[in-house]
Amino acid sequence: MAYKIAIIVGSLRKDSINRRVARSICGLRGDNLDCSMIEIGDLPLYNQDLDSSPPEQWVRFREQIAAADGVLFCSPEYNRGIPGVLKNAIDVGSRPYGQSVFDKKPAAIVTASPGSIGGFGANHQIRQACVFLNMPVMQQPEAYLGHVSDDSFDNSGRLKDGPLKEIITKLAHAFHDWVQMIHESRRLLAEDSAHAAKQQKHA
Ligand SMILES: Cc1cc2nc3c(=O)[nH]c(=O)nc-3n(C[C@H](O)[C@H](O)[C@H](O)COP(=O)(O)O)c2cc1C
Repeated sequence: MAYKIAIIVGSLRKDSINRRVARSICGLRGDNLDCSMIEIGDLPLYNQDLDSSPPEQWVRFREQIAAADGVLFCSPEYNRGIPGVLKNAIDVGSRPYGQSVFDKKPAAIVTASPGSIGGFGANHQIRQACVFLNMPVMQQPEAYLGHVSDDSFDNSGRLKDGPLKEIITKLAHAFHDWVQMIHESRRLLAEDSAHAAKQQKHA
């Protein structure tokens, strides 16, 4: 079964390495991950005053996330943290209070950088927000992708064969299995509860 995955890229740059990594993940599991890139560059800055009459871009973004089976974050690190544009998107999706569209969505976090520590700081800041937002985040493989550059990709923007592609392939498979496990467990639990309720009724 193909799961609907909302991909949120924390970079607005046309030639973003993170966008290209995200596309490669979709390409590697195209049969099982039905991926959509979710636009975040047009989201007005979150302002709680607008909760009662939200801008149309917020509404569109929230609907897109709500329709997904899982969320994949692919982001650069800016000054050892989450790029502002991504934090804004997370804040927009998390509100109004009690109506977060991220609630319970399985997630994975990938950070890519030309630097050697692969966006570790941003990766864990995103993870921290996901924990608060009640998103089951895939634990392994962790993906702090260092030394990623234009040279990591071929002319069509896909990852060249090599260790980076191997890591990304493992991650793409693990993310599919993670999303499947979360949804299957919930389905079985719901079945069990329905069965138990039925038995109680007939007792
Ligand atoms: C404002 C800014 C801050 C940055 N800070 C970091 C940083 O803390 N760590 C890091 O590894 N790279 C940092 N970089 C370099 C980015 O990793 C690099 O530009 C990368 O290509 C951005 O990702 P993208 O190609 O997906 O847009 C920074 C870049 C910018 C523009």
